[in-house]
Amino acid sequence: MKRILLIVSGGIAAYKALELVRLATKSGLAVTAVLTEAGKQFVTPLSLQALTGTKIYQDLFSLTDESEMGHIELSRAADLVVVAPATANILAKMAGGLADDLASTLLLATDKPVLVAPAMNVRMWQHQATQANIATLQKRGILLVQPDEGPMACGEFGPGRLAEPQAILTAIQAALNHGPLKGKHAIVTSGPTHEPIDPVRYLANRSSGKQGHAIAAALAAQGARVTLISGPVNLPAPFGLELVKVETTREMYDAVQAALPADIAICAAAVADWHVEAAAQKLKKDGSGTPPALNLSENPDILASISKPGPQRPRLVIGFAAETEKLQEHATAKRARKGCDWIVANNVGETSIMGGDENEVLLITQTGVETWPRQSKTVLAQKLVEKIVALRLWN
Ligand code: CTP
Repeated sequence: MKRILLIVSGGIAAYKALELVRLATKSGLAVTAVLTEAGKQFVTPLSLQALTGTKIYQDLFSLTDESEMGHIELSRAADLVVVAPATANILAKMAGGLADDLASTLLLATDKPVLVAPAMNVRMWQHQATQANIATLQKRGILLVQPDEGPMACGEFGPGRLAEPQAILTAIQAALNHGPLKGKHAIVTSGPTHEPIDPVRYLANRSSGKQGHAIAAALAAQGARVTLISGPVNLPAPFGLELVKVETTREMYDAVQAALPADIAICAAAVADWHVEAAAQKLKKDGSGTPPALNLSENPDILASISKPGPQRPRLVIGFAAETEKLQEHATAKRARKGCDWIVANNVGETSIMGGDENEVLLITQTGVETWPRQSKTVLAQKLVEKIVALRLWN
């Protein structure tokens, strides 16, 4: 059983640490918790103790604690040290090497990897001092779960909210490289592609990359080594995987070929089927009222090329089908045409799907069709990965 040492520092987000403990223990991790003085203002030692099922450590100079387990030993007994929420203050102490309470002393004494999930007011997060501390910590190999953006308890808006407990757990699992897909390599394509028309214009689509990124994170959480090949998106890079950023379908194709071999490939990207011979200079109106012709040429089909039988073919290849009508019929035909194992089919004619947070899909496999209910893209990704794990392809 993998063990984490969870340090809960002060801040309104500390209550989310309780949910994190609940999720972590449910996933089979053993959690020992340390509560700072400030943390105690927001969650009680008793509630943390009830959830972890073990003693909560609070004081540096506690004779009882030192006789049971010294602070040096405590700092090393876990496989990973997690600071969630991490305040601006504790990050500054870590960057400066201060050890003036139990939490900071453990962080200085530990020989284990450390993961921090910051939470603070947006100005405090964006302050040069905090950003410099984060840069210092990352340079030392400290793992970071980026804070989310959104409305804050203090009434302001911006980055600084603690990442959701599920996202922190995913990061913990990826850091522990712990899970049934350990040792397997997965390639995931995600997002739209941009096909330039001239230096300032491009052809694109409404894909946000949320589904592909969620799948990449879910695979990493199950221990896979993930190469995420993404078109232009406005999303933070998921934790613990290799991100390759591309613009065009042809670049995505090259990046996929370079990332092979893999055990699993999931093509969630909404790639452009065509490209334009891009003009070197901005296209100008010539005054005649005749628009310029866009001469389209077909792009390589990434999914079909990965699915071709041969020694490089991943054991499991999953494609997506974006359809606006006859979903099952078109997607079933697409599975056969592309040669992939499964197709996740979604109706993109419904405007809330592409770019939205939820998805409603059909899963078409060799053995039949499953209708999945409308659910968040994150949950859908986890369900899909659970189904992959359940295949026991590598046992
Ligand atoms: N795909 C790909 N390379 C392409 C086109 C599509 O890898 N050049 C992949 C997508 O990532 C997706 C699947 O193929 O997994 C189906 O994409 P979709 O756009 O639905 O289908 P198309 O191949 O474009 O077929 P059609 O034009 O008939 O809808």
